[in-house]
Amino acid sequence: MHIAVVGSGYVGLVAGACFADLGHEVILVDNDEQKLAALKKGEVPIHEKFLPELLQRHRGQRLTFSDDLHAAVLASDAVFIAVGTPPTEQGHADLSYVESVASSIPSAINGYKVIVEKSTVPVYTSEWVRKIILRNAAAPDSFDVASNPEFLREGTAVTDFLFPDRIVVGADNERCAAVLRAIYAPLTDGSYYKREDAIPQPDRAQIPPPLIVTSTKSAELIKHASNAFLAMKISFINAVASVCESVGANVQQVCQGIGSDSRIGPRFLNPGIGYGGSCFPKDLKAFREVARECGYEFRLLDEVMHINEEQRNRFLRKVRSALWTLRGKRLAVLGLAFKGGTDDIRESPAIMLVQTLLQEGCRISAYDPAAQERACEVLNSRVEFAESPYDAAQGADALLILTEWDEFAALDLHRLHSQLKYPIIIDGRNLYDPESMAALGFTYHSIGRPVVTPEVRSLAAEASPRAAKK
Ligand code: UDX
Ligand code: UDX
Repeated sequence: MHIAVVGSGYVGLVAGACFADLGHEVILVDNDEQKLAALKKGEVPIHEKFLPELLQRHRGQRLTFSDDLHAAVLASDAVFIAVGTPPTEQGHADLSYVESVASSIPSAINGYKVIVEKSTVPVYTSEWVRKIILRNAAAPDSFDVASNPEFLREGTAVTDFLFPDRIVVGADNERCAAVLRAIYAPLTDGSYYKREDAIPQPDRAQIPPPLIVTSTKSAELIKHASNAFLAMKISFINAVASVCESVGANVQQVCQGIGSDSRIGPRFLNPGIGYGGSCFPKDLKAFREVARECGYEFRLLDEVMHINEEQRNRFLRKVRSALWTLRGKRLAVLGLAFKGGTDDIRESPAIMLVQTLLQEGCRISAYDPAAQERACEVLNSRVEFAESPYDAAQGADALLILTEWDEFAALDLHRLHSQLKYPIIIDGRNLYDPESMAALGFTYHSIGRPVVTPEVRSLAAEASPRAAKK
């Protein structure tokens, strides 16, 4: 198939590269000249596992980059719209980029085309896209508008795309659904997975994935409802963690107990400093506004958002309770990205916490394996950026873990202990086992688990660094 993907951000770039890997001819369109120039030169603008390999494999061959939307639409059977849909001040999704792309499409319709919403958009957007295209003089039977929501998590977006739990296609007629079925056929017929050069299969992959065809409105809702449900799961466990702290229970054990119920499941039950990122915060607000406009007050979502904000405040209270006063304290911060495995800092709870700690007069030395450059644009000279976690810890009054990077769960804790001025760790991501931390001589605060203080025992007596368990 010939495919145009408009918008080469986190979603569009991954989708374009993966479509090329499925064997399609893809033109990635963007209006950001700098980004296009970088992509053409072979640079990879985002930190995403397997993306460099895919871009290297297909760049200049099945995958080309262009700023010419008209030419890309002319050459394509399907046009995926993956431009940003940022929130407005009122919490609605700003659809002006989507509208601008839709209004440029009609002049390039030279045969039947399917216009696919890939960006997360409120229900009814497909109707609007259709109206805009018709208003600009396209013949009604020359195109259809479909919704094909993405469920990509940053950091694992490529494997999420190629090994999805399900593919959702919202299409209001069979002609349109058939185009999307053909695009995803290498996944749904399993042929992609037989290839020697296929991207390695992750754990828990369902092969071949099911393709669910719904109405476009249902597909639009599936995306918002999925994200809202996942955010609710996180806020739920964060609320349970707060109760655990009050009664001296251990949230990890509670999670194991409730997550083993197959109706609940263990995933997305990790307590922390609250969810962030470009999707959950904005999609929850947008979903609440959509519901409100349709006459339903979705108060549950308000509470999910409230718990999320409160989770950051609770973490600040933990820092205060560990250090007493904050002015002039030197803090080591591990993690700035909104989650592990990405360089994205959009709506990062880590960045928000760092900003508050700076306002409180703390001095901060921070380390993140991928997000430092982006964080520097926001925090600039107010934060000292370190070369490694150990550098960041040097001489600090305490160490804060704010992002769940795998590498932070595998630190040399003896070394860390010797770098810190005081061996205090406030872990917002529960990366370590409290007992082991106490045995290693740390005062260790985490989420939903009792605070532990050092056992009276010499560190030197330990034969080797103890592997701290997640
Ligand atoms: C996407 C989706 O669009 C959003 O709805 C979803 O919730 C999260 O993922 P993302 O890929 O993260 O957004 O956005 P971003 O990284 O901002 O990329 C959007 C791209 O579209 C940018 O490269 C931008 O230059 C491009 N763009 C934007 C256009 O090409 N044309 C426009 O008119 C506007
Ligand atoms: C999310 C959805 O998972 C994905 O399906 C959708 O397409 C886009 O939005 P993403 O924002 O990349 O993906 O990250 P995700 O892995 O969902 O994490 C979101 C936030 O929740 C992060 O801040 C993460 O740290 C936090 N989180 C996640 C928790 O606090 N606990 C968990 O158990 C899981």
